[in-house]
Amino acid sequence: MDGNGRWAKKRFLPRLAGHKRGVDSLRDCVKDCLARGVQVLTVFAFSSENWNRPADEVSGLMELLGLALTREVKDLKSNGVRLFFVGDRLALSEKLIAALANAEQETAGNNKLILNVCLNYGGRWDIVQAASRLASDGIPITAESLSRTMSMSHVSDPDLFIRTGSEQRLSNFLLWQAAYSELYFSNKLWPEFDATELDAAIAAYSGRERRFGKTSEQIENHHAN
Ligand code: IPE
Ligand code: MG
Repeated sequence: MDGNGRWAKKRFLPRLAGHKRGVDSLRDCVKDCLARGVQVLTVFAFSSENWNRPADEVSGLMELLGLALTREVKDLKSNGVRLFFVGDRLALSEKLIAALANAEQETAGNNKLILNVCLNYGGRWDIVQAASRLASDGIPITAESLSRTMSMSHVSDPDLFIRTGSEQRLSNFLLWQAAYSELYFSNKLWPEFDATELDAAIAAYSGRERRFGKTSEQIENHHAN
């Protein structure tokens, strides 16, 4: 969800105003995903590297997260959304940790849309925490054991990976899980990302041929059978 700061700057607003609009955009995106039958939505809300931002932006983002949880969980719950927070939450405040656990518990009975919110998350962190957990338990490290131990083991790998805000990089998001994801780079800033742009991403995805290392002919024959 990139581009909140630039969205605000264009309007001579403080960066935090952009982040606030970012929350509105996420609320809409969840509704749009529900309406389209998307089963899993994973968003990058705060990276392990975002702690390096100015202190007032970091504290503003944390405050906004707490506020959003207070305001949104009720609707998410009644709309069938199940929340998961993914990342190293021990670095967050006690109050926030409790709010995250509460939101997960409140929505645990839902299964229409899984919403993974990645917080203090990094793809490298995830690979390292999984590998060190396996090593300390004396379990051999394989692709399967790693996948099982990583923080996204409750969902399948993403089909479509969307980055907004005109940047064309992964920035340490889902490094392991995105191995075969289709990438879509949107020129919209995150607060401007709407249903039309979501549909454009899905349409682009639909036009891709996913070969998973095979040849085009193998894929076509498989379809024919
Ligand atoms: C939001 O966008 C992403 C977060 C880390 C919350 P940015 O804050 O990175 O916005 P830009 O890139 O400065 O426009
Ligand atoms: Mg950015």
